[in-house]
Amino acid sequence: MKDVLGFIDANRERFRSELYDFLRIPSVSAKTEHDHDTERAAAWLADRVRGAGLAAEVLPTDGHPIVLGEWRGAGPDAPTVLVYGHYDVQPPEPLDEWASPPFEPTEREGRIYARGSADDKGQLYMHVKALEAHLATSGTLPINVVLLAEGEEEVGSTHLVPFVEANRDRLACDLVLISDTEMFAEGLPSLLFSLRGLAYFEIEVRGANSDLHSGGYGGAVMNPGNALARIIASLHDSRGRVAVDGFYDDVLDWDADTRAQIAELPHDDEAFRSELDVPALVGEEGYGTLERLWIRPTCDVNGILCGYTGEGAKTVLPNRAMAKVSFRLVPDQSPAKVKALLEAHLALVAPPGVRVELRELHGGRPWKASLSGPAFEAAAEALEEAFGTKPVPMGGGGSIPIVVEFEERLGASALLVGFSLPGSNLHAPNEWFPIENYEKGIGALARLYEKLG
Ligand code: BES
Ligand code: MN
Ligand code: MN
Repeated sequence: MKDVLGFIDANRERFRSELYDFLRIPSVSAKTEHDHDTERAAAWLADRVRGAGLAAEVLPTDGHPIVLGEWRGAGPDAPTVLVYGHYDVQPPEPLDEWASPPFEPTEREGRIYARGSADDKGQLYMHVKALEAHLATSGTLPINVVLLAEGEEEVGSTHLVPFVEANRDRLACDLVLISDTEMFAEGLPSLLFSLRGLAYFEIEVRGANSDLHSGGYGGAVMNPGNALARIIASLHDSRGRVAVDGFYDDVLDWDADTRAQIAELPHDDEAFRSELDVPALVGEEGYGTLERLWIRPTCDVNGILCGYTGEGAKTVLPNRAMAKVSFRLVPDQSPAKVKALLEAHLALVAPPGVRVELRELHGGRPWKASLSGPAFEAAAEALEEAFGTKPVPMGGGGSIPIVVEFEERLGASALLVGFSLPGSNLHAPNEWFPIENYEKGIGALARLYEKLG
């Protein structure tokens, strides 16, 4: 292990500059104009995975390709670990809010600023480097490794589920290992006990066959904007709960132990509030901020399109309004059931005089782990050795839809060890990743690979 850690230390600069090459490729999965870049990123990654000493292939799908690396030198009796990450990134817009260009990695105050630095290229590449450190020094690993990187995580992992199903034998493993989440705080490594799921919809409200003069028609014809506002307002009650009938039926009451562990974490509501510069924190009655973020479900408007929003005033009665509305789900809610409940809710609350249509965009199921067992112990030790502090348990407010699919289809449990920090602007302008976590994290992962043997 000393050689491995020495190798990581001696190659710090190179590890960083390689990551910068990765970050320079604008692999934005949502935009077809970047299809060529997404392909380039996959080819680049496969090349680096080969450089680390694994066999690697770029496997086409009906969407963006999958990079599959394999090292099976530990033999059929050794455990196999499936490492998962994603090489696609979110669109960088709005560009003028970036202090340095999103695809030109820039170091400031110990941070790497670039789209994808934290989510997820930086964290995915740490695994490649930890594997390289083992294979370049001892030439071996105590475990077999399958590394799977997809290019569609940020757009719902559409083609990964059929890929996993079709390649169950090749992906067979004892553990799924993922670094695509956060640590609780700087210097405080963490292990994840949950992820929220997601049910994402478009609600469209249509009125007359054309926009109308709001003086000539207003008052006698239902305005789709007014109707949509009523629909949106109906989604919450005054206690901060989602007011869709049946929504909480499958919500798990989290065990007292986990709730006590959450309460012990060093969280400060006032610091959280002032960091965000909001006048107050709000949410479901009866729960603290961390519980609201991790173990309680939500409903949020993600965007609204309606009427005249240009300069000055235009007296118009728009004939269409649309909202993107998504729900974060917790165990044991399911996107399919939430869709059915929302459909029934819309039928109940939609005002007369308009047509309402519900379209599902994508979904993912929530995930819950038991933080115990040998893999968990190994990760806790590896993190403590690398960061000098015992990891704390935490939940994840975001979603990684494939996690549950891996667990069910491959019969292995997942271990989520994240290294980005709160406030690192995932999906927002000025995304960053701490250089310290990049370097210590590679060491932690190298130790973890050793211990998993
Ligand atoms: N890495 C994130 C998920 C995440 C971030 C989980 C922080 C926990 C803490 C992932 O890339 C992501 O952004 N997922 C999407 C879901 C997807 C279906 C678009 C999300 O959570 O919105
Ligand atoms: Mn991610
Ligand atoms: Mn993301």
